[in-house]
Amino acid sequence: MLWLVLGVARAGWVDPDSPRSARTTVSLVDRVEVPLVFSDEFEVEGREFDDGFDPRWTAIHKNDYTNAALHYYHQEYVRTSNGFLNVTTDAVETEFESLQLSKRRKGKIKAKTLKKEFRSGMVQTWNKFCFSGGILEVRVKLPGRHDVGGLWPATWLMGNLARSTYVASSDYMWPWSYDRCDRANQIRQEISACKPSPHYGLDANRGRGAPEIDLLEVMPGSGWLPWGLKKPYVSTSLQVAPGKTNPRPSNGDRPHPGQWYEGLRFGKNSSINVFFYGLKLDHHDETSYVADAISGNTPIRETHFTDFHTFRLEWEPRGYINWYVDDFFLYGIDDESLGECTGAHVPDEPSYLLINTAMSSTWGFPFPCPPGCDCKCHDCVNPKCKCAMPPGFCETLPAHFLVDYVRVYQRPQHKLGCSTDTHPTKRFIQGHSDRYSDPDVRASRKRPLRDVEVGGGPCRVDSDCGGGGGGGGSACRRRRCDCKEGATGPTCRAAAAHDDVIYDDLDDIHVFDDLRRFYAPPAMDRLCLAFLLLILAIVVAHVARTKHQRGLYDY
Ligand SMILES: *[C@@H]1O[C@H](CO)[C@@H](O)[C@H](O)[C@H]1NC(C)=O
Ligand SMILES: *[C@@H]1O[C@H](CO)[C@@H](O)[C@H](O)[C@H]1NC(C)=O
Repeated sequence: MLWLVLGVARAGWVDPDSPRSARTTVSLVDRVEVPLVFSDEFEVEGREFDDGFDPRWTAIHKNDYTNAALHYYHQEYVRTSNGFLNVTTDAVETEFESLQLSKRRKGKIKAKTLKKEFRSGMVQTWNKFCFSGGILEVRVKLPGRHDVGGLWPATWLMGNLARSTYVASSDYMWPWSYDRCDRANQIRQEISACKPSPHYGLDANRGRGAPEIDLLEVMPGSGWLPWGLKKPYVSTSLQVAPGKTNPRPSNGDRPHPGQWYEGLRFGKNSSINVFFYGLKLDHHDETSYVADAISGNTPIRETHFTDFHTFRLEWEPRGYINWYVDDFFLYGIDDESLGECTGAHVPDEPSYLLINTAMSSTWGFPFPCPPGCDCKCHDCVNPKCKCAMPPGFCETLPAHFLVDYVRVYQRPQHKLGCSTDTHPTKRFIQGHSDRYSDPDVRASRKRPLRDVEVGGGPCRVDSDCGGGGGGGGSACRRRRCDCKEGATGPTCRAAAAHDDVIYDDLDDIHVFDDLRRFYAPPAMDRLCLAFLLLILAIVVAHVARTKHQRGLYDY
């Protein structure tokens, strides 16, 4: 376990392809130099992100039934190419089996075949890479056309206790950022500060949750919206609970004094997002709660769809969040604004990264429904559905959301890890693994994440294993990839990665699972093994000698 102690440099998640110039950044808040702690440059060609393929990202391969989604997330729609992460959206039909509770026979589950007319991609670092505070910067080219609506590209963060698109894990968990005990909210917040013994290694009387920080959500399209906002625009948001109780502003109206958070900071071209203040998670009883979206909008231009631009946020837990495009300040939120309004906090949860392009009838689609259209179908093939689609949308497909890099920088007080000493998540997730698994997968095959395979993928020549260049050195032996040190995934295309500090105790019921899942650099693995063998040898020698001596005296 030596590397746990020595691993103070926090280099375990840095992509070896990151250029020297990216190894630190200068904070746009206070000009302090901050070191790089995570990066992915996507330089290796043909990386795949299927479950068990990559130490950083997992491509979602399931139906999305959140936010009136029109797409199926398909793992083959996320790849690396030409030095980019390439998230494709296309009008391709997917038929899939959905397991549902039978209405006629109580308690029975039946499989129903459902269809989606669009495919898209989403990658998450859920339960692999998380950070609590720091600077997140991505360099991206947005998909589709700037003046045609219909796509919803996004890059965002969510607390590790909820897995996005796995609704059973987010209910009562998303987007709580609240550490007070009040009896009205106790039944609405899964892990409430009112709980004296929450189990699963969680601290007594500490409120937990899975708040959301949106680095970018883009609304392409044309024309002006009320309040002088022109499409296309980017939304930058913090989503937290508890929400502001009445009075609340209504969507489309500017808030009156006392209706909304005070002291929000807007850049020169930004304005409050009056189109979305949040939503009610309605459980038809007193456990219903409101999630607030504290959000700003900023117009962007055609160049954001034809060229690369940097989007950045600087996040200080229980402090502030500031958003920037190309180093230009957009929007900022301070902890006091939240505290004074609802008692919520700027998040301090270990949070994971998400990159995706969604499609939803509620994002950039004709609204209200045009006269004479029934708006019941959204399909590029069926002419009857055309009236419900944004004009010109189908012609923009397939569309590609390209990410040049993702980089995270942290100050000394910030933590890496999805389960930290102050904010453990590991045992809660282990104890509720059903909630984090696809409900449409049969129980026997269900599990949240597979272990990452190190080699073993099919190959013909060495270059099939890592594609040469940055990932080269791995070999094809008897038609199976054999990864060089520092490379992982079935075809050795990913740079190995790990947390430098592991906070969870090893007195765990699943200790052997965890040891297998924990990725140590192979050299360390071998060192450890050699050490264990040495101890074993000493013990065996000792036992043999004792036996021998006893043997002498027995006779
Ligand atoms: C993105 O992927 C598609 C195929 O999935 C490909 O046609 C396109 O060239 C890729 N874009 C870039 C910039 O690599
Ligand atoms: C802000 O808006 C003005 C006017 O629309 C535009 O000329 C300028 O480029 C914008 N600034 C940035 C940094 O986007």
